[in-house]
Amino acid sequence: MKRIFSGVQPSGMPTIGNYVGAMKQFIDLQNDFEAYYCVVNQHAITVSQDPELLRERTRQLAALYLAMGIDPNKATIFVQSQVPAHAQAAWLVQCLTPLGELERMTQFKDKAKKQESVMAGLLTYPPLMVADIILYQTDLVPVGDDQKQHLELTRNFVERFNHRFAQEGEDILTLPEHFTPKSGGRIMSLQDPSSKMSKSDTNKKGYIAMLDDPKTIIKKVKSAVTDSSGVISYDPENKPGVSNLLAIYSAFSNKSIADLETEYADSGYGQFKQDLGETIVSVLEPIQTEHQRLLTSSELDDILAAGQIKANEEANKTLAAMEKAMGIR
Ligand code: TYM
Repeated sequence: MKRIFSGVQPSGMPTIGNYVGAMKQFIDLQNDFEAYYCVVNQHAITVSQDPELLRERTRQLAALYLAMGIDPNKATIFVQSQVPAHAQAAWLVQCLTPLGELERMTQFKDKAKKQESVMAGLLTYPPLMVADIILYQTDLVPVGDDQKQHLELTRNFVERFNHRFAQEGEDILTLPEHFTPKSGGRIMSLQDPSSKMSKSDTNKKGYIAMLDDPKTIIKKVKSAVTDSSGVISYDPENKPGVSNLLAIYSAFSNKSIADLETEYADSGYGQFKQDLGETIVSVLEPIQTEHQRLLTSSELDDILAAGQIKANEEANKTLAAMEKAMGIR
């Protein structure tokens, strides 16, 4: 069975952008792949975090994975820091990655601009991501558009590593592909459709968090920026606000954008936004109820403990092969 791996940082409550761009795919793909879904808490500390809050968010994100519909009998859910092979393999990756490749990463440049002082971990974040992916011999990585460059880096690394260290003609690492949704790979801010929806946006009206209550969700959708034409059609270039709402609506309703355009051909933005808000609420409300239940149950800890064992087993196999090939084991 082919493998998938993906991760989300517990650096804040995920938004519907994370959901549409990546997490929704986690659920759909778990049936056809051997899946590993990780709470990447070591990635989160590349920028400053409050330790207590980080611990809490790590648990919350794991609960969200389950509440969304990831089935622990099908997929392995675990916390990155509980599998030491990630940091160990990241070191190997760093030693084989040219500095220039890391300095070119747009996410590094964007994030570095926002920091008062830039820690080395922000630069070496992509090698840790490469390690995450290769350790599970991953075939497919469901992610949003913003991670494509990191996936390219991963593919370059795998090709380089295999070329240099193949054992008796056998490649050690699997070459992964990225998987992004047709629309929704880049959900934009509700207040500024030219910038990406982000959980760290200081303007809370720009994003809908997965745990926002129904009233807040409806309010945020209603105040989303559109345009003055009053026409509901998908045209990201000229109608970025409305197109963004259509991409969100399509993901939450499982209707195609073309069908939604037809459905709302004679409606105004008011009705469209009202229906969209209610659709989002209808998907998120049951997730939120289940999330709350899981947080106060021991089930979550049992699932993470089992995930930790399975992930360590798999990751250690690849780490051993890499270390052996490189002459340090
Ligand atoms: P993170 O935590 O920033 O985001 C998690 C996932 O959500 C996607 N995403 C979006 N998709 C659509 N529209 C948006 N506005 C939006 N914002 C975020 C991201 O593309 C991502 O798929 N580096 C990763 C975490 C990571 C990882 C990995 C992912 C670490 N190791 C290994 C895959 C494989 C990140 O920062 O995601």
